[in-house]
Amino acid sequence: MSEDSTLRDILDQRIAQQGRITFADFMAACLYEPGLGYYTSPGRKVGAEGDFYTSISVHAAFGRVIAREMAQMWRCMGSPAQFTLVECGAGNGRLACDIIDYLAEREPGLYGNLCLALVEKEPSLESAQGEMLAAHAGKITWLSPDEFGSGRFSFSGCLYSNELIDALPVHRVEMTADGLQEIYVTSNDGEFREENGPLSTPDIKAYLERISIELRPGQQAEVNLSAPVWLASASKALHKGFILTIDYGFPAAELFAPHRTRGTLMCYHRHQTEENPYIRLGQQDITAHVDFTTLMKCGEGLGLRSEWFGEQYRFLLSAGIIEEIEEVERSSATDEQKLKLRLALKKLIMPEGGMGDTFRLLIQSKGVESVRLLCQRRIGG
Ligand SMILES: C[S@@+](CC[C@H](N)C(=O)[O-])C[C@H]1O[C@@H](n2cnc3c(N)ncnc32)[C@H](O)[C@@H]1O
Repeated sequence: MSEDSTLRDILDQRIAQQGRITFADFMAACLYEPGLGYYTSPGRKVGAEGDFYTSISVHAAFGRVIAREMAQMWRCMGSPAQFTLVECGAGNGRLACDIIDYLAEREPGLYGNLCLALVEKEPSLESAQGEMLAAHAGKITWLSPDEFGSGRFSFSGCLYSNELIDALPVHRVEMTADGLQEIYVTSNDGEFREENGPLSTPDIKAYLERISIELRPGQQAEVNLSAPVWLASASKALHKGFILTIDYGFPAAELFAPHRTRGTLMCYHRHQTEENPYIRLGQQDITAHVDFTTLMKCGEGLGLRSEWFGEQYRFLLSAGIIEEIEEVERSSATDEQKLKLRLALKKLIMPEGGMGDTFRLLIQSKGVESVRLLCQRRIGG
């Protein structure tokens, strides 16, 4: 029996038992059902042989610029003797490796005091991360999401994630003649179908009210209830320091704008986009754009100050990608390596077709008095 049909059978059984399931439960199974979900089954997900690129897979310069900003965060905190980096959803460990390589090379004062904690839902990735980070083995610890959210883990430093929030399961809603309804998944003769019903939890209504969003008649949208829950555990674990979130998404007014009639749900398989989440179960990625307004608003309620929010290209330009390129240009790197960096730069910062304006960064701080980040510098000034 192929994995696809095993997962389909599991979902059919759940639907038979419950009558119907929320889209969030459907998506959670497709991405994370142990051994069968997209992220919990073997196979390359990211890069040329996988299903999609992330900024990390494009070039190490991305991680190196983030590392520059992290060194600045450490300085803003008074260069403490203990500084912990925590990555949530670390995947194969590539970003952590690019960051920590830079710090080892350029920031020995920080590197000497550094700990790196990797939080990843899929435990089997630990060995890939261990291999990737072998040169820094003594500095690394691993935590499950449960341990991370238990309240027993506390740190000062910077918690960061790349494309974590868009991979959390979302509820789907539609504004109907009967008011706001939830889109459920049901099954008929082995085919998944969607049907509307009352909201599965009042948290959905509260979510939209918090950001003052009222959908237009007929408009569908996604509601990511896991994002504020994740942020609350992140904020609880962070004693003092920063949370840096990188993802594709928009402020709420843009994300839920009336022209976006069918939300932003999208699937990826072998670098092709696919709108139908009910095929290739467990073999295609399912994502939805991130609502950064909710992260900022909930953060403020948790004592997190929003320090910087904007497009990836603005962050990279002001935090040091040009310096990074100048250094490579001056170095003994081969012409091929230099060309690779220029092409990567184009991809990372180009709006329209590149990753420059689709991706956004949010930096929040907790308990740090005078914050002066590199990305807060004026570009060119
Ligand atoms: C889209 S991938 C991004 C991987 C990597 N950051 C990158 O950019 O290539 C999302 C990752 O987050 C992990 N993940 C999902 N929920 C998580 C959670 N609550 N805590 C930690 N990791 C989680 C998934 O297993 C997956 O490896």
